Amino acid sequence: MIKRWRFTLACAVLLGSCPALAQPLYKDPAQPVEKRVADLLARMTLEEKLGQMTQVAVSKLMSDGWGLGPLKGELLERYLVQRGIGSVLSGGGMGPVPNTPRAWAEMTNAIQRAAVEKGRLGIPLLYGVDAVHGHNNVVGATLYPHSLGLAATWNPALVEQVARRVGQELRATGTLWNFAPVADLGRDPRWGRFYETFGEDPLLAGSLVAATVRGLQAGRVAATLKHFTGYGQPLGGTDRSPAFLAPRTLQEVWLPPFRAGLEAGALTVMANSGSLNGVPVHASRYLLTDVLRGQMGFKGVVISDWNDIDKLVGDHKAAAGFADAVAMSINAGVDVYMVPMEVDRYLQTLKELVEAGRISRARVDEAAGRVLWLKFQLGLFERPYVEAAEAEKVVEAQRPLAKQAALESITLLENAAFTLPLTNVKTLLVTGPAATDKTMQMGGWSIDWQGKEGAKAPGATVLEGLQKGAPQGVKVAYADPKDARALAAAVRASDAVVVALGEKPYAENEGNNLTGELPAEQYKLLRDLKALGKPVVLVLLAGRPLAFPDDAWLVPKAILMAYLPGSEAGSALADVLFGRHNPSGRLPFTWPKLFGQVPFTYDRYPDIYPKAEPLYPFGYGLSYTDFTYRLQAARATANAVEVDVEVRNTGKRAGSDVVQLYTRFPPLGLLAPRERLVAFTKVNLEPGQTRTLKLTAPLDRFALVPGDVFSLELPRVLPGRYVLRVGEQTVGVEVR
Ligand code: BGC
Ligand code: BGC
Repeated sequence: MIKRWRFTLACAVLLGSCPALAQPLYKDPAQPVEKRVADLLARMTLEEKLGQMTQVAVSKLMSDGWGLGPLKGELLERYLVQRGIGSVLSGGGMGPVPNTPRAWAEMTNAIQRAAVEKGRLGIPLLYGVDAVHGHNNVVGATLYPHSLGLAATWNPALVEQVARRVGQELRATGTLWNFAPVADLGRDPRWGRFYETFGEDPLLAGSLVAATVRGLQAGRVAATLKHFTGYGQPLGGTDRSPAFLAPRTLQEVWLPPFRAGLEAGALTVMANSGSLNGVPVHASRYLLTDVLRGQMGFKGVVISDWNDIDKLVGDHKAAAGFADAVAMSINAGVDVYMVPMEVDRYLQTLKELVEAGRISRARVDEAAGRVLWLKFQLGLFERPYVEAAEAEKVVEAQRPLAKQAALESITLLENAAFTLPLTNVKTLLVTGPAATDKTMQMGGWSIDWQGKEGAKAPGATVLEGLQKGAPQGVKVAYADPKDARALAAAVRASDAVVVALGEKPYAENEGNNLTGELPAEQYKLLRDLKALGKPVVLVLLAGRPLAFPDDAWLVPKAILMAYLPGSEAGSALADVLFGRHNPSGRLPFTWPKLFGQVPFTYDRYPDIYPKAEPLYPFGYGLSYTDFTYRLQAARATANAVEVDVEVRNTGKRAGSDVVQLYTRFPPLGLLAPRERLVAFTKVNLEPGQTRTLKLTAPLDRFALVPGDVFSLELPRVLPGRYVLRVGEQTVGVEVR
């Protein structure tokens, strides 16, 4: 600092000024970011600015197409140096060959070197990936549970720790832009991306979105809230089909998780690839600018989804041609186009639109300026490279944390006659397709996009985990579910059976499931096991609630929902089954009895005719112990409602409980949710222990959008007497 000051002073005194010697202002980390952006923008050509608004797939730098392989010098030169493209992404499954942490670091370094050393202004490159449950494109990186499982932990501190860890892995490989977390809600389990969400509730999801943003960005990795907005409820439950959401539903339900992520400081937002109320979101100025920036105050970068400006033409059929689509989208508020292939056509079109005055130069400065701002925020100008040798060390298996996350997610759905934990079992038989197929515990976005390569990720299978984790004296046997005779013999020779069923991995559209059913042979397996008369424990590895015919559902004595637990599936299940861990997961969604009930959330408006109950309600989950509650008087302060709850462990084992506080609304002249979650906390109690917890519900959780059918008003708290509920206990509170 002092040295530079002296140098500047000397320059000024001796030479008047030293333009040749002084470094440009934008390279000076001591300058405020806004000044650095303005200085750099002023030096850039139009083409260079348009380059910052463009993101290319890394395979373009390898093969000029989809093929993977070594980076090619001439392609780096063409796209990064001549075109000045500002960011590169790995779509699911794209990466270096061979795929190792070190190769990732070397790849991003090489890309960076081309941009920084050969680019006219030395603007560093930003590299984006979908690290949605660990650094999941990298072979060698531990895979954590998918978000749906993390949501079942109801533990924001744990989720933040996971994200912090993933952020370190991302940083170590030079991938500083993460297209996560998903801030869409999972309110339709038919949807192929249900498991990528934190479940159906805005408060729970919002808390975990915020935790993820904090964790990732603590290591200066940019988080992306996606997909803004209304993506999670496509009509009919199929990915990217048109969505219809009343403005009041958008405000009360869909925006709060995004707002929570923005309040946590999320640097980027990705637009929803679908449409909402008849307008493709990539063309909606209302959503991308008026709501996101005007109402919600977002200052960072909006990125398109994959190829989505093109989708305005070919898929949505809303734009007559590509030029119209680009103008619509950029003017609506998209700052960066994730192209990912047709880069030249995009750059050319963008330039023509600017020259024709259909996109203003001010808009270009705004968009490019935001990208530069992001790069300064991440410290890229100061530290563009990573230590390749370090990457190997950082992206080592993070087993204990992944195991803790899997443990806290596992949700006990049934436990007839205290079948679990398995304390009196000498020979345990394990069977079922999910016991030996590792791809089923990993889910989609594991090594490759659809998760077909997920078995390459670290971690044991469920069977191996149970074998390794069985207590002394317990024999764990295996029988192939396809061999009926061997299976029957093995069942007869055992005291109990663990059957692991579930879904093959999938991502996006390929994962839609309109019936929620598993393949028929999995139900048949359950029925076959019933005929053999031994106690059956069902373990589910799935990214959604499943449909079960009654006769199959009633076979098992105990049922564990494990979601998509990742690398530590087996070791975590062993701890739960053998009683070393008391399950505390709670469903982050409503489990329908029939898929015909869907969409079917706990916070739906009142039912006029009695509806069939769900199979398991939102927030449900059993424990090996029991908890009771006593709710004390509630009070409303200026911005919250507070209530004390006494929680007691009345059973014989230590355990964790998730205390959930709901509100019911007074009659307010419009419909209100039957109930709404307003606060929650997780507590660990020894047998017999009692604790009094203070739950604080922010007042905005009580807000509704007033007004008539098409009201565009913002939510506000309508005064009245609200009823709070914890378990079976209720208490009234006057809110104004
Ligand atoms: C998905 C996004 C993802 C992007 C890049 C799109 O198909 O919708 O969630 O970030 O691809 O892989
Ligand atoms: C998907 C992306 C994915 C990519 C993988 C695209 O079709 O939409 O999400 O990352 O394929 O190559």
